[in-house]
Amino acid sequence: MNVRGQHYRTIWPKPGDERVIQLIDQRFLPHQFVIEEARTVAEMAAAIREMHVRGAGLIGAAAGYGMYLATFESDDLRAAAEQLKATRPTAVNLSWAIERQLRNNSAAKSAEERQRVAFQTAGEIADEDAEYCRRIGEHGVELIRSLSEKKAGAPVNILTHCNAGWLAFVDYGSATSPIYAAHDAGIPVHVWVDETRPRSQGSKLTAWELGQHGVPHTVIADNAGGHLMQRGKVDAVMVGTDRTTYTGDVANKIGTYLKALAAKDNAVPFYVALPSSSFDWNICDGVKEIPIEERGSEEVNYADGWHEGEQIEVRVTPASSPAANFGFDVTPRQLVTGLITERGICEANEESILRLFPERRGR
Ligand code: MRU
Repeated sequence: MNVRGQHYRTIWPKPGDERVIQLIDQRFLPHQFVIEEARTVAEMAAAIREMHVRGAGLIGAAAGYGMYLATFESDDLRAAAEQLKATRPTAVNLSWAIERQLRNNSAAKSAEERQRVAFQTAGEIADEDAEYCRRIGEHGVELIRSLSEKKAGAPVNILTHCNAGWLAFVDYGSATSPIYAAHDAGIPVHVWVDETRPRSQGSKLTAWELGQHGVPHTVIADNAGGHLMQRGKVDAVMVGTDRTTYTGDVANKIGTYLKALAAKDNAVPFYVALPSSSFDWNICDGVKEIPIEERGSEEVNYADGWHEGEQIEVRVTPASSPAANFGFDVTPRQLVTGLITERGICEANEESILRLFPERRGR
């Protein structure tokens, strides 16, 4: 998508030296646009763990390229697979991409063949992610169009949480893809952007990428959504997901569940956009079975921002207060109006999901 009018993806092989993978280091956005280079599995694992790259689709693509880098370090990719899998537990795209690399590489007979197959597979994972997100936009824009038809030219107000934009994928994003498609089609749209503490992916990343694309938006404090819904100022909620069970339970950034409860209470449709790589075809009960990442308490105790030309951190809690930092929560299927996938829109239940993905019947 757009960065100062130029098209970027979030990750790509370095032109002229494909032994190096370049990625946008998101820790510095929105204030600085920094491109990082990863040359080893350890560097890619650190980039995922420390959230230079983040978001389900991009974590998958980064893991795919991490496995490619591993082919220069060892003939046996299993240690690299374990190292990468250990970086972040909730997004299922991580293990999905690693398993795909292991499968494709299982018959490779030489280091050269492994490198070629892994490079091709990583490229396919990235291209597929971008294409699936583009298709999510094609399907989701119809929901926005029909909301718009009822509003006689007034903007459709969409609330989103965290960043399920192009920065969370390779391109387009999941929750933002229908929004970009609507904006590009001339449908008036405005986005309420939850700031999404503690790491503020909403106020830092979603606001930045919407701004780069010219989409009208307003950043709101995390707890404002219910109030806006009660006053008829939200026409739909659209969020992404890090893992959704084949039965329709949705894991997403902490705070999503509360938005879904408020949406239900106010009859606001609550949509989840996801490429099929974010479905977990093995887990049936999301609340009981999806692993929820707990991150360091410093993310809650401190806030960071831009001050006189540099990024600074400030303490926001009493020095002696313990803090807990749960990264995700699970929204049960009955609170979800629909899932927007690359194959179309379905209800958040097993039957409807499997109708779109019949090859998964019987798994
Ligand atoms: O911890 P993050 O930033 O990797 O969390 C992922 C997210 O950005 C959100 O949960 C997002 O809404 C789903 S991932 C497309």
